[in-house]
Amino acid sequence: MSSSVFAVVTAAGSGSRLGHDTPKALVQLAGVSLVRRAVDGIRVAGVDGVVVTAPPTHLGEFEQIFAQEPDVAVVPGGNIRQDSVYNGLLEIPRLAKRIGKELDERTPVLIHDAARCLTPKRAIRDVIEALESGLKAVIPAVPVTDTQKVVEPVGASSKIEKVVGQVDRAQLRGVQTPQGFHWETAMRAHEAGRELLAQGVELTDDAGLVEALGEDVHVTPGSALSMKITTKLDLVVAAEILARPDQYQSLMGE
Ligand code: C5P
Repeated sequence: MSSSVFAVVTAAGSGSRLGHDTPKALVQLAGVSLVRRAVDGIRVAGVDGVVVTAPPTHLGEFEQIFAQEPDVAVVPGGNIRQDSVYNGLLEIPRLAKRIGKELDERTPVLIHDAARCLTPKRAIRDVIEALESGLKAVIPAVPVTDTQKVVEPVGASSKIEKVVGQVDRAQLRGVQTPQGFHWETAMRAHEAGRELLAQGVELTDDAGLVEALGEDVHVTPGSALSMKITTKLDLVVAAEILARPDQYQSLMGE
């Protein structure tokens, strides 16, 4: 079993889809910001050191939130999420040194969206334990509930599309975070990801970078509570869940 676990919490996105001028991660949910909830949630699951990626325009505000917490480092994010994660990963060796925690090739490193701030401890622990058992890349995911179709546009100006194929829903999974990697795998995948970006190839998650290397990615059970808070509707749903402690507890156990 590894002696330490690190995480990058990505919080450098804008709040535009939530209808806020402030960065999304600073938006309050029942009086507590998304980034505070995400960092505390991941700590409770046994993470020793956290790097938060913040929008460069609001770096000071994020630094202030975590000023009294030596186990949290704040770094500026990049233009896209992948850049932000890379910046966060580069900070981990410094953070490890500062808090006196071991970092080796197999140390579990989680990459977690601040926007998934209600992720239950169980889902995070499942990822950490799978990494500690020797798997190098582990992602939480949930079955999809809607039937899935492949479509093509009918005409450039029409909003109507045409179905051209069907995929077997039973084989599909909706992928969440925290995505977990051995430290060496995370760095190697993100270094390769920089090359891909230079060629114009942008992948939407970190595990995709490991898949691009031809390496295995394993899947643990995700949770309905790991919903990404992206729209105003998501914020309303999240607030409603928190307002019902009994339901919240029971969802945490699922
Ligand atoms: O924009 P999207 O919802 O995909 O963002 C997922 C997560 O990545 C969010 O937590 C957001 O704050 C973060 N992000 C980031 N740097 C960016 C864009 C998004 O850290 N440049």
